[in-house]
Amino acid sequence: MKYNYKGMDILIEADYDNASKKAAWIVASQITLNPRSVLGLATGSTPEGMYDYLVKMYQKGDIDFSEVVTFNLDEYYNLGVDHYQSYHYYMNEHLFDFININKDNVYIPNGTADDVEEYCLSYDKAIKDYGNIDLQILGIGNNGHIGFNEPDVYFELGTHLVELDEDTIKANSRFFNRYEDVPKRALSMGIRNIMHSKKIVLLAMGENKSKIVREMIMGKVTSKVPASILQLHANVTVILDQLAAEDIIDELK
Ligand code: F6R
Repeated sequence: MKYNYKGMDILIEADYDNASKKAAWIVASQITLNPRSVLGLATGSTPEGMYDYLVKMYQKGDIDFSEVVTFNLDEYYNLGVDHYQSYHYYMNEHLFDFININKDNVYIPNGTADDVEEYCLSYDKAIKDYGNIDLQILGIGNNGHIGFNEPDVYFELGTHLVELDEDTIKANSRFFNRYEDVPKRALSMGIRNIMHSKKIVLLAMGENKSKIVREMIMGKVTSKVPASILQLHANVTVILDQLAAEDIIDELK
């Protein structure tokens, strides 16, 4: 079902698989309309299904990534690109190794850059030089973060070094063998980069996201819930499975 709430499009799908398929279709149509699209990409559990569908579409010959440019939202600080939990590794494992993307067109923050501040400025500049992101894919943290823009972030920031919240460290620990190995810092695009994207698709799945989804869509715009800033963006589609939509569905109808 499709709803519109104060300008935001909200697609509610039966389950994770259907929601992932819808997201992949949106990415595919973006690339079809503009083969040189600049995509903003997220990692985490949520978009894995979408990436699976994109790989399948590529294998069937339905999409061509040869001219597509991508910018990832974030990367752990001080984790080498070959580390099995780095977002570089994740992107190769879930997408890039299976499609015909030109790796020169792939940008992922470098968590081991020598001069972090200068590096972050160069990441912002690269995005700007491509004319900003055409389609930004986002997930949402249980604390309302997008990228790694944690509660109380300054909305005006571009790419920057983030001290991760205890909440986020705990959530990320499910991917690491030992809690003490979970990175405490990350490089992340800022809200400014995200808000300059021409279109945004945010995915949220499962009942543990239902509360924060409500705050993002129906709560006040506040840096306490960084994703709430999306209410002010002109072109946002939120894709949810039924579980993540539980706390908003009655008000949408
Ligand atoms: C990942 C990212 C994060 C995740 C969020 C949700 O690149 O930017 O904001 O989207 O933490 O993670 P999952 O999908 O694992 O629940």
